[in-house]
Amino acid sequence: MADEALFGAIERARAEWGGRLLILGHHYQPSEIVAHCDAVGDSLELSRLAAASRAERIVFCGVRFMAETADILSRGPGRSVWMPVPQAGCPMADMATADALEAAWGRLCAATPKAKWAPVVYVNSSAEVKAFCGRHGGAACTSGNGRRVVEHFLARGFRILFAPDQHLCTNIMRTLGREGEVALWHRGTADGGLSEARIRAATLVAWDGCCPIHAGFTPGDVAAARAAHPGAELLIHPEAPSPVAAQAEHVGSTKAIIEVVSRAEPGAELVIGTEDRLVRRLAAANGHLRIHPLRPILCADMGRTTPEALLRTLTEWPEACRVRVDDALVPDARASVERMLAL
Ligand code: 13P
Ligand code: SF4
Repeated sequence: MADEALFGAIERARAEWGGRLLILGHHYQPSEIVAHCDAVGDSLELSRLAAASRAERIVFCGVRFMAETADILSRGPGRSVWMPVPQAGCPMADMATADALEAAWGRLCAATPKAKWAPVVYVNSSAEVKAFCGRHGGAACTSGNGRRVVEHFLARGFRILFAPDQHLCTNIMRTLGREGEVALWHRGTADGGLSEARIRAATLVAWDGCCPIHAGFTPGDVAAARAAHPGAELLIHPEAPSPVAAQAEHVGSTKAIIEVVSRAEPGAELVIGTEDRLVRRLAAANGHLRIHPLRPILCADMGRTTPEALLRTLTEWPEACRVRVDDALVPDARASVERMLAL
């Protein structure tokens, strides 16, 4: 089908469903998908929209953990969540399993019998991992509210097991002036590579997962961007390593990055370190600014959603595209996400 015909067919299918359908899309989705979304947002906004939705069907254009979160938050009679390409995952989410976290949790608690621990899990994690978090009294977080969630537990005297993104965690602790209190848990080892003394000294133990996309930014990229664009402001997503984010004028979620762009004076020059589909869209939509990528990087999983797959979902509703978290996981997983939304 030609692009125009495909566009029209998707819009006709959307119109048939009207208010019974909500199409959500993440900022990293391709522009030809964004064009059909009822709302485009960062992980926090999309979670809030899913929780508030009364639509019969949510079609989630993003990656699997996002659609699972929408299902966890929007469960109800006659409601369902769908993904055009359900195989679109997140390599970072795959870096932490509930079993491995349980084992680490056991070791942390055994090493510090008098301490209180709370898990904090980035929403970029499986439903099993969110259920682990909820079961132990912790909360999920996103790049938009991670600092608030971490501060909440630290202020109440908890130590934190943070998973799976070491960089988001380290960036949060750096902005709190407490980076030195972080110990890194090396997944794949029985003891995390941490002695009991090291665990006892740590306020926060960070899983050593990362986003392979954002973790690729280096201080050398920053130096090259500063040399090529002297005077430009640097905007970085907090999934980037701390030595890179520490040099930025602004560190924030995709929504926060978009807000900085929208406030910029005409003629301003900005270098943006995040996924390139968003950077390119911002550059195209803001011709009065000079926007450059820190380095063009693409998330392959975010790029898997195609207009053809979206049309097929909206017209055929293939059972394989339905996203339904195991009923047994939902109460604990929901507890972790609802605690986050309440903070
Ligand atoms: P946010 O849009 O919440 O900043 O998340 C970025 C991301 O990597 C999602 O996969
Ligand atoms: Fe996962 Fe990174 Fe892709 Fe986001 S950008 S979906 S964190 S791999």
